[in-house]
Amino acid sequence: MSSSLLAAAPWWRPNTGDTLVIRGGRPLVGSYPISGAKNAVLPLMVSALLTPHLVTLRNVPATLDVAVLATLLQHLGSEMHWSANGAGLAVTICADRLQPARIDPDLVTRMRASVLLLGALLARCGEARLPLPGGDAIGRRGIDFHIAGLRAMGATVELDGGMIHATARDGLSGADILLPLPSVGATENLLLAAVLARGTTTIRNAAREPEIADLAACLIAMGAKITGLGSHVLTIEGGAPLAGAVHTVLPDRIELGTLACAAALTDGRLFLRHGRLDLLGAAGALLGTAGVEMHEVDGGVMASRAKGDLSGVDFTTGPYPAFATDLQAPAMTLLATATGASTITETIFEQRFRHADELRKMGANIAVRGRTALIRGVDRLQGASVTCTDVRAAAALVIAGLAASGETELAGLDHLDRGYDRMAEKLAACGANITRPS
Ligand code: EPU
Repeated sequence: MSSSLLAAAPWWRPNTGDTLVIRGGRPLVGSYPISGAKNAVLPLMVSALLTPHLVTLRNVPATLDVAVLATLLQHLGSEMHWSANGAGLAVTICADRLQPARIDPDLVTRMRASVLLLGALLARCGEARLPLPGGDAIGRRGIDFHIAGLRAMGATVELDGGMIHATARDGLSGADILLPLPSVGATENLLLAAVLARGTTTIRNAAREPEIADLAACLIAMGAKITGLGSHVLTIEGGAPLAGAVHTVLPDRIELGTLACAAALTDGRLFLRHGRLDLLGAAGALLGTAGVEMHEVDGGVMASRAKGDLSGVDFTTGPYPAFATDLQAPAMTLLATATGASTITETIFEQRFRHADELRKMGANIAVRGRTALIRGVDRLQGASVTCTDVRAAAALVIAGLAASGETELAGLDHLDRGYDRMAEKLAACGANITRPS
């Protein structure tokens, strides 16, 4: 991605090298700062479009997705002021002069989260026109729930030649919406729309991911009236104008789980600073059964390998608090060298096993049958040339390389950069031999 595209994110340094070279076999030891959550910060940035007042977000991760969304918001007329904030960034967004028609289609198609512009622009400006969103190739990823919910709130939504055109000239009205599945994106989109819609909106079968409660907390700080946080039923009393707010992005539970796997895989010991074990849901106990020792300490989580070998386990991904699909790939790397067999059943995205092909190049014994992968643990992974196929596959391959013997060369690094704030640098500070030659 060229740097000129990212003028709205002056901190973004387009990375030089196209590959990451990892010489594996060293234990990871030290303090690894867990960044603000990738999947919380994007909806939080979009929430700033709902008000002409200033919204400040702290603990913003310096990732490619954040840079791309910042650029999209700038094209739409928002102003952005960045500063350093501890290990992360702080951004103040001012959307007092929105120009909803000035959307950059190329940037929209780079990320799934851009679909959230639909609810926010429609609610604030009465109109939104954008291309169908992009994102990782991990399944069908429809937006029918988003559209049905917005229509129930009185919007006219038309799909034409890959474009979505939504209008609500007289504003949106509250509605009682039942989601067919607890979709994360649809819950967020409808929440963003509902806070400015007249009257009461009820979202039933809402997703319960912690990132949704984080978005709701920020909207409440802006003056929105939302109840039911963390439950399957969100009730929003909408219609009042929103003020500005200052909000700290919650820590990334997926980065936490991934690094805990890395500590166990390399037989190291990591202090995962700012990490919160309570956000892991079922994955916390399951990784524990597999031999990943995690416990809360002051200011974070300590992670290491429990005594003995890693052991095979069976799990099924599902909506929170079930095992997160975003941790499925790193967990597969963990189980690739566990004693015994494991099965992983993926219920959220139908094509989210592409990393299995790459792990096989490193010597893993993995058979995929439909939505289930059978993993038979091998003694050791070996370094190989592999390619990242999505954001979480990228992290899974990085930790595989750290545990493997020999050298691993990783290509397709945009995926890693999209979701992780300086992962290679943070790992190197914990003893990893990891470089990105230019
Ligand atoms: N679905 C539909 N129609 C819709 C919406 C969803 O059929 O209108 C289906 C999807 O195809 C999928 C399921 O419902 O099979 C769940 O999708 P969901 O809407 O919950 O996912 P999402 O909002 O597209 C977010 C995260 C994903 C994460 C999932 C599940 C963001 C930007 N993305 O996606 O994160 O895996 O929730 O937790 O928040 C990642 O970070 O690598 C990533 C893919």
